Amino acid sequence: MIDKIKELIAEAEAFKAETKEDIEAFRIKLLGQKGIVKQYFAEFKNVANDQKKEFGQVINTLKNTAQNKVNALKEELENNTQDAGISGDLSRPGEPIQIGSRHPISIVKNQIIDIFSNIGFNVSEGPEIEDDWHNFTALNLPEYHPARDMQDTFFVQTNPDILLRTHTSSVQVRYMEDNKPPIRTISPGRVYRNEAISARSHCFFHQVEGLYIDKDVSFADLKQTLQYFTTELFGKSKIRLRPSYFPFTEPSAEIDVYWGLETETDHKITKGTGWLEIGGCGMVDPNVLTNCGIDAEEYSGFAFGVGIDRIAMLLHQISDIRLLSENDVRFLEQFKSAL
Ligand code: DAH
Repeated sequence: MIDKIKELIAEAEAFKAETKEDIEAFRIKLLGQKGIVKQYFAEFKNVANDQKKEFGQVINTLKNTAQNKVNALKEELENNTQDAGISGDLSRPGEPIQIGSRHPISIVKNQIIDIFSNIGFNVSEGPEIEDDWHNFTALNLPEYHPARDMQDTFFVQTNPDILLRTHTSSVQVRYMEDNKPPIRTISPGRVYRNEAISARSHCFFHQVEGLYIDKDVSFADLKQTLQYFTTELFGKSKIRLRPSYFPFTEPSAEIDVYWGLETETDHKITKGTGWLEIGGCGMVDPNVLTNCGIDAEEYSGFAFGVGIDRIAMLLHQISDIRLLSENDVRFLEQFKSAL
């Protein structure tokens, strides 16, 4: 019997397997519940006393040899399949992948881009770190102009010429400098102002600037464009243009949308008036056209600027602007289905 076991040990050492199934069959044959090793152990009691020691040793050697072989073959097979680009068990369920969500600012920005691209506007962008010319001077706000105080500016270090743009109107200037009319462009982006942070205002936020320059552009074109925009975005088509002042437009107006006074929230967000301000607009001041190299005799145009954060807060009932920059996943996850 001992010789037979020694033969089995030699066989186990020499064993080779191609597949997982071969290894498993080998394991069951030798190490399974009814396998050879178990059977020999059961024989132990019948072995003559003087042979018990040797018998025990060989049977243990057989068991260890078989087990080591199984382990070695399995490892070898796994390494081979990994080399071929397949790892392990192909029927194993996959790891769940968390789906991200678009940020509400991006959702609203994309909606606005869609609305304007339907009427032929392209998208343009400019730098957030701007120079004085593009943010102020070219926009009819020369040095010491009192209207510069309307926008509390962050300057970059001590250079008063370099600043964080206070509005996306700076992109108007860049676009007009680089392109000839007709111009139809919108410029979404982040802007910065040195303002106290609260539920309703932040030191950075987002705007979309619109610019239309061609021959014979009138205020009626501006109003119609804004009406189309608010109808598409809010489903509310009644707007009001309230006379206002911006140095870069003449005449200038503030854009109000009639929100209604049906619910308590309507009362709250419109301060009981039913009207909601969403931005500013006007006919581009001829001085601005001239500053940007466009003939103000031949061309006219309109411009407008609206706040994206404000609109996102309205559309998604967000009560605090700070939520938009805190990146709390519990907040962001709620926009998974929005777009
Ligand atoms: N730049 C202005 C602001 O940030 C918004 C604005 C008003 C933009 C009138 C315009 C405009 O293009 O015509 O307050």
